[in-house]
Amino acid sequence: GTTAALIPAAGSGTRLGLGHKAFVTVGDLSLLARSVAALAPYVDEVLVALPGGMELPPGINARAIVGGETRQDSVRRLLHATVADTVLIHDAARPFLPANITLALLEAVAETGAATVALPVADTLVHSGGGGLWGASVSREGLWAVQTPQGFRRELLLRAHAQAAADGHAATDDAGLIARQGGQVQLVRGDARLFKVTTPGDLALAQALAPVWDA
Ligand code: CTP
Ligand code: MG
Repeated sequence: GTTAALIPAAGSGTRLGLGHKAFVTVGDLSLLARSVAALAPYVDEVLVALPGGMELPPGINARAIVGGETRQDSVRRLLHATVADTVLIHDAARPFLPANITLALLEAVAETGAATVALPVADTLVHSGGGGLWGASVSREGLWAVQTPQGFRRELLLRAHAQAAADGHAATDDAGLIARQGGQVQLVRGDARLFKVTTPGDLALAQALAPVWDA
């Protein structure tokens, strides 16, 4: 079967505050260019969702479509823009994707039909009780933080998206949509370098990592 990489890159980057986040550069390459380059060798096509009115800069080997209001909308549009049997969905905002993780994810999705990269939580967790105070403690036992890429048989994820849209259910990732339908999602161990560039602190980390990564 065929495999497509689907890259939602249509967000506005509000928390980072530097304009359209996918085009922010770390070490001379944009977040988007890095995410596309990491996946391109392993798939038959790369599709990117961009904000309306924007075009792919030269040098990015992909096909662009217009994204939606939310990440979920952007992914749904990407799913309808390909006929690939298998899709790997990856945030443009996660520029450092190790090849061994892509390979492990492809293996898992071939076996199970739905898999995501995720990392066991290392920090102590707590609910904010309001007023800046410690609220209810949360055990981190058995908790994993979900990353991307996530891999699916496309038909399976299309159905999960249609159901979520019909229910008015909003989610921040795609594996969660499979799980809420009772589907199984295989967890594949991720990597600290797969962090999402969300805040200025994350960008500082990415800028520090880029020269090491590129060496
Ligand atoms: N995304 C998208 N379409 C949207 C919203 C988000 O394709 N309508 C993409 C982003 O471009 C990003 C990924 O989903 O690659 C993860 O989203 P996030 O980190 O939240 O990025 P932004 O939405 O751009 O940032 P913010 O929430 O701070 O505005
Ligand atoms: Mg967002």
